[in-house]
Amino acid sequence: MTTTDGPPDSFGSLYRLLSTAVTPRPIGWISTTSPAGVDNLAPYSFCNVVAVDPPVVMFAPVGSRDLKDTPRNVRETEQFVVNTVTRELVEQMNATSATLPAGESEFDQVGIERAGSVEVEPPRVAAANVAMECELYDWIEVGGSVLILGEVVHVHVDESVLTDGKVDIDKLETVGRLAGSQYASTVDRFSIDRPS
Ligand SMILES: Cc1cc2nc3c(=O)[nH]c(=O)nc-3n(C[C@H](O)[C@H](O)[C@H](O)COP(=O)(O)O)c2cc1C
Repeated sequence: MTTTDGPPDSFGSLYRLLSTAVTPRPIGWISTTSPAGVDNLAPYSFCNVVAVDPPVVMFAPVGSRDLKDTPRNVRETEQFVVNTVTRELVEQMNATSATLPAGESEFDQVGIERAGSVEVEPPRVAAANVAMECELYDWIEVGGSVLILGEVVHVHVDESVLTDGKVDIDKLETVGRLAGSQYASTVDRFSIDRPS
């Protein structure tokens, strides 16, 4: 194998390098509610699970000075919901990535049904098979991005993705983001044993 190497910016834009090499990325479809009561919904693929005890998840909006609606709402209300994106929701998820004025809701603009949350104010996406209600755990500025950590305080799981009471990856067809407008689903699955 011949390796070409160098500093990170020698392979085109840093965004292109990082967002192509770190793939597929989970997509957190984040719902928030502004202090004025407007429900916001947007996808964030700089997203992952951080801790299990306590259960903490993260997502990272780009732009720490000129905040997008989602981080602005989280900063002001300290609450959000992470809705899991599955194959049948991809088109709707993509539609909610359009930039809307802060006073307009992607739920209404795209025609997405809300369902009430239990512990937090923002609604969840009714059709999402898994939705995690979160309270802000920490807010860390990282260069031009913000790392938002949320403690999961309540979880909704649709019975259709359960087997023996546990979430079943064979039933939950999550979608990950690849580079640009490309995505991967979990249809092409294989298993491999961990070394002992
Ligand atoms: C699949 C997907 C993943 C995205 N991931 C991110 C991300 O991780 N960070 C980010 O800042 N923007 C990301 N975006 C762009 C935001 O969704 C977009 O800027 C959106 O308008 C933000 O909405 P808001 O202002 O309502 O929060 C992503 C878009 C798509 C389609």
